[in-house]
Amino acid sequence: MERRLYAGRDVKRAHSIDDLRAMARKRLPNFCFEYVEGGAEDEATLRRNRDVFREIAFLPRTLVNVEKRKQSVTLFGERSASPFMIGPTGYSGLMFREGDVKLASAAAAAGIPFVLSNVSTVSLEDVVQRAGGRVWMQVYMYRTRESLAKLAQRAKAAGIEALVVTTDSAVFGKREWDLRNYIEPLKLDWRNKFDVLRHPGWMANVLWPNGMPRFANLGDLLPPGQDSVKGATITLGRELDPSLSWDDIRWLRDLWPRRLIVKGVLGAPDALKALEAGVDGIVLSNHGGRQLDSAVSAMDVLPEVVEQVGGKLCVMLDGGFRRGSEILKAVALGADAVLLGRATTYGLSAGGQPGVERAIEILQTEIDRALGLLGCCDIAGLDRSYLRWPGQQAPLSRAQAQAQTQSQTVQARVAALSV
Ligand SMILES: Cc1cc2nc3c(=O)[nH]c(=O)nc-3n(C[C@H](O)[C@H](O)[C@H](O)COP(=O)(O)O)c2cc1C
Repeated sequence: MERRLYAGRDVKRAHSIDDLRAMARKRLPNFCFEYVEGGAEDEATLRRNRDVFREIAFLPRTLVNVEKRKQSVTLFGERSASPFMIGPTGYSGLMFREGDVKLASAAAAAGIPFVLSNVSTVSLEDVVQRAGGRVWMQVYMYRTRESLAKLAQRAKAAGIEALVVTTDSAVFGKREWDLRNYIEPLKLDWRNKFDVLRHPGWMANVLWPNGMPRFANLGDLLPPGQDSVKGATITLGRELDPSLSWDDIRWLRDLWPRRLIVKGVLGAPDALKALEAGVDGIVLSNHGGRQLDSAVSAMDVLPEVVEQVGGKLCVMLDGGFRRGSEILKAVALGADAVLLGRATTYGLSAGGQPGVERAIEILQTEIDRALGLLGCCDIAGLDRSYLRWPGQQAPLSRAQAQAQTQSQTVQARVAALSV
C-alpha cells in the first residue's frame, strides 16, 4: 500500500504537522488553503526556509542520563513552557470561526505566548479577556501614525505585554498562486466558487450567518462600515507606507512603555540598528517566504546575529519550522525562541482549538524526544557543539566561544594601546 498522511477529521490521529496540513487541505476551500500555503514569486525563499534544516545535522552525546528533560525557557523574565510561540497570522477567522481566540487559547493552555496579528478578526480586548495567557500584538506602521498611537493605547489598557512591529511589508509581496484564484481583486473565479460550495462544513463554520469575517483591530484607520475585506483592502493598500525608517521605530519606542520587538530583520547590521533604536527584541523573518523572494532564511543569518546582539536583545526567528528538532537547531544556534506561522495555522484549519493544541503537543513531544536522543537534559545547555553542517568549521562549545571572545577583546585592547 502506498504511504499516506492522515487526512481525516480526528486531530488526535495527526502525528506530525504534515498530517495537520493534509487535514487542513481537505477541510479548507482551495482559495483559503492557498492563502496560507503560498509564497512570493518563484517561492525560492519558501523552499529555502525548509531546505536549510536539512543542511544542519545533530551531533548527539551518548550515555547521558536524560531521565528528566527540560524544554522551558525564560522570555523577558517570564517562563515559557517551550522555546516557541504562536506568531502573527492575519485573517485567521477565514480558517476557523474566531480563529484568533482559538489560537490564543491554545497558546495560553500550553503556557506559551501568542502574537495577535494587526489584521485579525477578533478585537484585541476580546482575545486577551477570553484566552488569558501572554498576549503580544503585531502591528504594521501605516501612513496614519495616529491610528497606531491609539491602537497602542488600547493594547496597553487591555494588558498586551509586547508590541511586535512588522517591517518587511512596506510593499506587498507578489503571491502569484494566490492571485490566480481571482478574476479581479477579491472576486473568485468560477472554479474556486464551485470549490467553495464543495466545502459546506467550512461555509457553516466561517461564513454563517454574517459572511466573510471582518477586521477588528485596525481601529479608526478604516472609515465606518469599511471593516469588510474589500473596504480594508482598499484602505490598507493606500495606507502602506514605503517611507518607513528606523526613526519610526524610535517614535514608537518613545510611545510604547512595554516590550517592543521588530519583526523582519535579516542580518547583523539591521540587528545592531534595532539595538541602537532601543527595542527589546527582534524576530529574524522573511515573512514565511511571502515578501521578498530569494531572501535568505532566518536560520542562515541567525549565527551572525547572535554573535552581534545575543544577550543584549531577545533574538527570535521564524520561517519553515515544522518539527521540534528544527526548533532545537535554532536554539542550539543561539535563538531565544521560535515563532510558528503555518504550523499552528494548519492545526487551526484542521480542527479549530483542538487542532492548534494538537500542533503544539506534537512539537512539544518532538522537542522532548529529540532532547532525550541528543543526550541533553536541559535545553539551556544546548549549543553549537551539538550541530554539524557543511562548510562550517568544527563548532565551538559555549566555553570555547567565550574564551575566544575574551581573547579577541584582549587582542583589541592590546592593539588599541599600541596605537
Ligand atoms: C496566512 C499567513 C498570514 C500571515 N499574516 C501575518 C500578519 O498579519 N502579520 C505578520 O507580521 N506576519 C504575518 N505572516 C507571517 C508570519 O508571522 C511568519 O513570519 C511566517 O508565517 C513564518 O513562516 P512559516 O509559516 O513557515 O512558519 C503571515 C503568514 C501566513 C502564512
